[in-house]
Amino acid sequence: MSCRPSSQTKLPESEFVYKEFQNPDRDRAMTGTFQQGFAWGAATAAYQIEGAWDEDGKGASIWDTFSHHEGNIYGNHNGDIACDSYHKIYQDVELMKQLGLTHYRFSISWPRILPDGTSKTINQAGIDYYRELIDALLEANIKPMVTLYHWDLPQALQDIGGWENDMIVVYFNQYADVCFREFGDKVKLWITFNEPSEFIKEGYETGCLAPGLKHQGTSVYRVAHNVLLSHGTAWRTYDNKYRASQKGMVGICLVCNWAIPYSNSKEDVDATERFIMFMFGWFANPIFGSGDYPEAMKQQVMMKSREQGLTSSRLPDFNEEEKSLILGTMDFLGLNYYTTKRVRHLASPTYPASLDADQDLHCTYDDDWPTSGSTWLRPVPWGFRELLRWVKNKYNNPPIYITENGFSDPNLESEGYPNLDDICRSKYIRSHINELLKAYIMDDVDIRGYMTWSLTDNFEWCDGYSSKFGLYHVDFTDPSRPRTPKTSVKTYRQIVKDNGFL
Ligand code: NOJ
Repeated sequence: MSCRPSSQTKLPESEFVYKEFQNPDRDRAMTGTFQQGFAWGAATAAYQIEGAWDEDGKGASIWDTFSHHEGNIYGNHNGDIACDSYHKIYQDVELMKQLGLTHYRFSISWPRILPDGTSKTINQAGIDYYRELIDALLEANIKPMVTLYHWDLPQALQDIGGWENDMIVVYFNQYADVCFREFGDKVKLWITFNEPSEFIKEGYETGCLAPGLKHQGTSVYRVAHNVLLSHGTAWRTYDNKYRASQKGMVGICLVCNWAIPYSNSKEDVDATERFIMFMFGWFANPIFGSGDYPEAMKQQVMMKSREQGLTSSRLPDFNEEEKSLILGTMDFLGLNYYTTKRVRHLASPTYPASLDADQDLHCTYDDDWPTSGSTWLRPVPWGFRELLRWVKNKYNNPPIYITENGFSDPNLESEGYPNLDDICRSKYIRSHINELLKAYIMDDVDIRGYMTWSLTDNFEWCDGYSSKFGLYHVDFTDPSRPRTPKTSVKTYRQIVKDNGFL
């Protein structure tokens, strides 16, 4: 049941609207609430918060290897200790209670429970750790939403080719099966993969993320193919073996920027469509769209491959069996939204072949869009609603959980003081959730919940600890890693309490 808004202008507009965006019809804040039972959460990922990288029988992950290699991460930071969340279950749950959360999205570290990646050896201490966390959450009336793969592949599997090795489908399924069996009595919301487009591109082509490979042009597509097969296989394992007794849901988490064309030219409009298809449709279409890779993507990679003298496309084909394995394997879509881009057509050189070059486009931001601590993140709240509307119309109104949405502070700590008064984050959260409310109330998008990224400051991949996304500040120079609420805690707590905007 949704509560329809009584007025659209009751809230002080200035609080909501970025001064950069002054389109009153579009940007005016609205009052109203989400349906009863709406999921309010925060999200984290194992490698970014847990620490205890080699404790209690955990195997090494590709992130342990990558971050221990000098020069890969800002300041040579690593996740050896991170927020030390492995030892701070109750402290972290306390933070969630302060926020009034109903859900917590976290990920399982694959090598913590299967040290060599396979189900040959199960590390009981790892299982116990996640059981304790899940019990502590349930005790606090907070439901777990669990991501199976948030980028920390067991190093032992990378040693035999990682996601490039077709056998990974079998290993991922073993891992998923163990998780469903061990935790599925209490976990009802599962996510197979977090942001595959990102870990594939940055891990296998640019080399910015683990495993740091620079296999340009073909590898990304083969890896994505294996990720899609792994997702479909794991979903079917749940469906066949566990769904009837456990009654949970399994989804996937895809990131998508909203994108608008640089001009009204057909070339720019087509480039914008391509941008979204290469980022989102790549995974969405085979799983809950046409059952195949997007046409725009197939044509583009074929054309580029021909120019490069190849006889077939670098983008693999699905056979019929694979298509039907993957299509329909989604109980909900986990959607991560951070920013919007402006896109124009730009023909890329034929060589070297790469995922970027295959797209023939260039992305920019408008100069007057506000900035954040990350070069890639410009807050554009209205883009969030546009994206949701587009997903609804294009993919037949799937159930959606917002599994990430958040803002990085400019890092003031280097100047000697933590930035606890994060008014920019407060503004980001309020404006984005307000756009979400509009999508729910005015556009009838099937939105089930919202998870902010992130509960605490944490290890932000190649930026190490220099980039801060947390609602709670963590002092990484103090061995006890104290957590301190920022101003945005109050902001988010109020929205959660009101189930929207009263
Ligand atoms: C995407 C990723 O899922 C998460 O791990 C990362 O920290 C945030 N977005 C912010 O970059």
